[in-house]
Amino acid sequence: SVHRATTTAPVNIAVIKYWGKRDTTLNLPTNSSLSVTLSQRSLRTLTTASCSANYPAEDTLNLNGKPQEIQSSKRTLACLSNLRALRKSLEDADASLPKLSAMPLRIVSENNFPTAAGLASSAAGFAALVRAVADLYSLPQSPKELSRIARQGSGSACRSLMGGYVAWRTGELADGSDSLAEEVAPAAHWPEMRALVLVVSAEKKDVPSTEGMQTTVNTSELFAHRAKTVVPERMNAIEAAIRDRDFPKFAEITMRDSNTFHATCLDSWPPIFYMNDVSRAAVRLVHDINQAVGRTVAAYTFDAGPNAVIYYEEKDEELVAGTVKAILGADTTGWEGPFYEKLANVS
Ligand code: DP6
Repeated sequence: SVHRATTTAPVNIAVIKYWGKRDTTLNLPTNSSLSVTLSQRSLRTLTTASCSANYPAEDTLNLNGKPQEIQSSKRTLACLSNLRALRKSLEDADASLPKLSAMPLRIVSENNFPTAAGLASSAAGFAALVRAVADLYSLPQSPKELSRIARQGSGSACRSLMGGYVAWRTGELADGSDSLAEEVAPAAHWPEMRALVLVVSAEKKDVPSTEGMQTTVNTSELFAHRAKTVVPERMNAIEAAIRDRDFPKFAEITMRDSNTFHATCLDSWPPIFYMNDVSRAAVRLVHDINQAVGRTVAAYTFDAGPNAVIYYEEKDEELVAGTVKAILGADTTGWEGPFYEKLANVS
């Protein structure tokens, strides 16, 4: 017989960015980060995990219809072996449980958005993989405990196991056992928050984040200052802004941290550029809107790619999303969902 579990996991977009590892195997970060989990109505990974004694001996992973080489993906193997070990300990404690840990796994995963376009696909992908296998194995671990495993798939994935406002604490221990994600506030705490995802380019990004952050760690002088001094202060300040639902504060910290992160990329050697002319037009437009209105109604942030995410409050939907779409937007076809708009490709 076949045992099966299906789940979805959301995308998260950091407002304090994770950039830099102190341990590249365990994906231990040099700084804490904080993200907002986006609605699964717009962006999500859907994953089914199944296992059966009748499956061919090797575990398999199929992503968006394409078989993946999991034997060469250390990260996927790390996640699966951690999950298997947890299942095995359940089976060792209770002989009546089916021995799922001994069966080959079959994992089928699908994104409803472009993979590797700087849209946090690895975050939703590994979070969904971990959640699906944990469900298949009936693991009792909390999302926080599972975040230790998802982190090993992709650092940012540890923040996609929870909704709302999620902090990933850098931790101090060498084994990473205290480098975990935790909810700072549920989505319902600030239900007016909105995110507009502007897909400037859905093409695969130039420098993958894993590689880009290593270049930054090894070559940027700004990097250590950001990690040691700037981010700890911003983590405190943005958690207070979230607690107080202070949008102008939340927005300023978000925009400044995106800019500081991209400054460390430019300060890397050779320099790394993720933002393009459309990205910069979006930055200028957000500042223009805020200035014209006389209060901060919108915040931009950019990950390791040119796509913009713009945060705003629901009451300013017309003003922010309306203006951004009217000025920057052209082609919104094919991208459904209240938080998701596609712009004409420029690159
Ligand atoms: C710019 O989580 O993709 O989006 O741990 O190497 O898989 P790996 O990196 P990844 O990096 C995300 C970087 C970022 C910032 C963030 O999400 O915090």
